[in-house]
Amino acid sequence: MTCKTGGNPINFYRQIKNISYIEAAKELGARLGIKVEDQKRSSRYDLEYEIMNKANDFFKFTLHNTTEGLKAKEYLIKRGLTEESINHFEIGLANNDYQSLSKMLVDQAYEPNLLMTLGLSSRSEKNNELYDIFNNRITFPIKDNTLNVIGFSGRSVDPKDNIKYMNSQETPLFRKSDVIYNLYDAQDEIKKLDEVLLFEGFFDVISAHQIGYKHGVATMGTALTESQAKLLRRHAKRVVVIYDGDNAGINATHEAIPKLKRARLDVDILRLPNGMDPDDYIKKNKFEGFKKFFETNKKDSYRYYYENLLLRLDPNNANSVQAFVRDVNLLFQDASAVVMQMFEPEISKKLGFDFKFSKVDIPSKPLPEAKKTERKQVLNKYINAENDLIFELLKRKKHLDLIKDSLIPNTYVLLENYQVLERLVSFYETREFLILSDFMDRLPNNLREHLEKNMKTNFNWQNGITLESDTIKNHLGVVHSYSNERELDALYEQMDPDNPQESLEILNQINKLKQKMKTNKRRDK
Ligand code: CTP
Ligand code: MN
Repeated sequence: MTCKTGGNPINFYRQIKNISYIEAAKELGARLGIKVEDQKRSSRYDLEYEIMNKANDFFKFTLHNTTEGLKAKEYLIKRGLTEESINHFEIGLANNDYQSLSKMLVDQAYEPNLLMTLGLSSRSEKNNELYDIFNNRITFPIKDNTLNVIGFSGRSVDPKDNIKYMNSQETPLFRKSDVIYNLYDAQDEIKKLDEVLLFEGFFDVISAHQIGYKHGVATMGTALTESQAKLLRRHAKRVVVIYDGDNAGINATHEAIPKLKRARLDVDILRLPNGMDPDDYIKKNKFEGFKKFFETNKKDSYRYYYENLLLRLDPNNANSVQAFVRDVNLLFQDASAVVMQMFEPEISKKLGFDFKFSKVDIPSKPLPEAKKTERKQVLNKYINAENDLIFELLKRKKHLDLIKDSLIPNTYVLLENYQVLERLVSFYETREFLILSDFMDRLPNNLREHLEKNMKTNFNWQNGITLESDTIKNHLGVVHSYSNERELDALYEQMDPDNPQESLEILNQINKLKQKMKTNKRRDK
C-alpha cells in the first residue's frame, strides 16, 4: 500500500482500513468533527455498490487466505507482480466451488435477482439454484468515478480454460462502452501530469505502475469508443497510445487515433517492437530500458502517420511522388504553421526538391440540392432495371435461373422490388407458367399495391415486350452496381474535413471503390 493511492484522503483511509468508501467518509469525518450524513440511499445505486464492493472484498479475501488463493498469488508473483501492486489494484480470486460468493451474499439477505442483474450470479435451469458467474479466475475490479466497484474482469488461471478473460455483462452500473480500467484510481496522477497512457491490457497498466508510470489506463478488450475518448479528455490534454506490437495492436492504434483527436486530445504513439506487449517490454527492459524507449520512440501523430506514408514513397517514381505529395498535404491540413515548418525541410530532402505545403480540398459530397436531382436520376436507372426484371418474370419463366442466381438483397434500391422478385422465384419453383391473378392474390397488400402501381407505368409490360438474356445480364449488372454506389455514398458521408488523417484513409477507399466500379463498367460493356 502506498499513500500515493490517488490524493483522495477518503480513498486512502478506506484502503488502509479495508472498509467501504461511505464508511471511510463517516469515520474520517467523525475524527475531524465533521458529521458525514448517512449516505444510505443517497445514490440510487447504493445497494448495488454495496454488493459489488462486498464481492470484491470476498475475492480479495480468497486470494490472500485460502490454499487456492495462495496458488493464484504465486502465479501473479511469478508474472512479476509485487505484493504491493496486488494490494493496490485490489486483485482477487474467484474460487472454484461455483457457489460460495452467491451463498455468502444471499446469507446476508441480498436479493438473488439483484445478484443476477449485477452479473455476479446466475440461476440454474436444472435445479433452480444460484451459481457464481466468476469461477477459477483472478479478478480485477473495475470502478467508476465514485471509486465503487461496478464490475469485474476475470483472467483464467487454468491454462486449459480457453476463455482468457471474462468481463462482467452489461449491468445498470457497468456499461462497457463507457468504462476505462484504472481511470479513477489514477485520476490524480493523470491530472498532475496532464497526460494519460492508454494500454490494451490490465497487466500492461500494472507493470507500468510498478516502474513508476502510474497514469496508465486500459480499455477492456474492445475498440476504444468516442465516449471513452471524451472521458479521457476530461482528465488530460495528452494521451500516449501504447498498444501491443502486433497487427491487431497496430490496427487498433489506427482506429483509436481519429477518435482521440476528435475529442481534442493531443495524441502521441509509442509503437512496441513486433510481437511484444508493454508488459513484456517492461519485464524485459525494466525501468531504465522502458524509460529510454519511451522517450526516444514516442511520436506525435503527425510523425507517426508521416513515417507510414514514407514507407510507400519511391522518390524515383513520379506517380509515387505525386501520391505522396497529395497525401502529405492532406495529412498536415490541420497542422499549425510551426509543425509545417518543422517538416518542410525534411520532406524536401526526401523528395529531392523544395517542398512547401499547400492547401488541398478534401472532396466532399456534391451540394445537397444539386445532389438531390442528380441522385434521383441515378436511382431511376437502377429502379428501371429492377422493374424490367420483375416484369420479364411476370411474363415468362425463361430467364428464371439467371435472375434467381443473382438475387442479393442489399443490391436493390427498393426493398419491395426485391421482395416481389423473391416471391416470383418461389412461385415458379412448383409451376411452369404464371397466372397473373394467382400470383397477385398471394401477395401481401403492400407488395400488391406496389406492383399494380408499377404496372401502369412500365413500358415493357404495357407493350408486351420480352427481354433477351444479354439485356437481362446487363440489367443485373446495373442492379448490382447499386451496392457500390451506396457504399460510395456512405464513404463520402464519413469524410471529415476536421480530420485529415482519417479522411486520408477514406479517400483511399473511395479511390479504390471508384476504380473497381470503372472496371466493372468496362467489363459489363
Ligand atoms: N481481453 C478480453 N478478452 C479476451 C482477451 C483479452 O477482454 N479474450 C481484454 C483484457 O482486458 C485484456 C486485454 O484485452 O487485458 C488485452 O488482451 P491481451 O493482450 O490478450 O491480454 P494481457 O493483458 O496481455 O494478458 P496476459 O498477459 O495475461 O496474456
Ligand atoms: Mn497483452
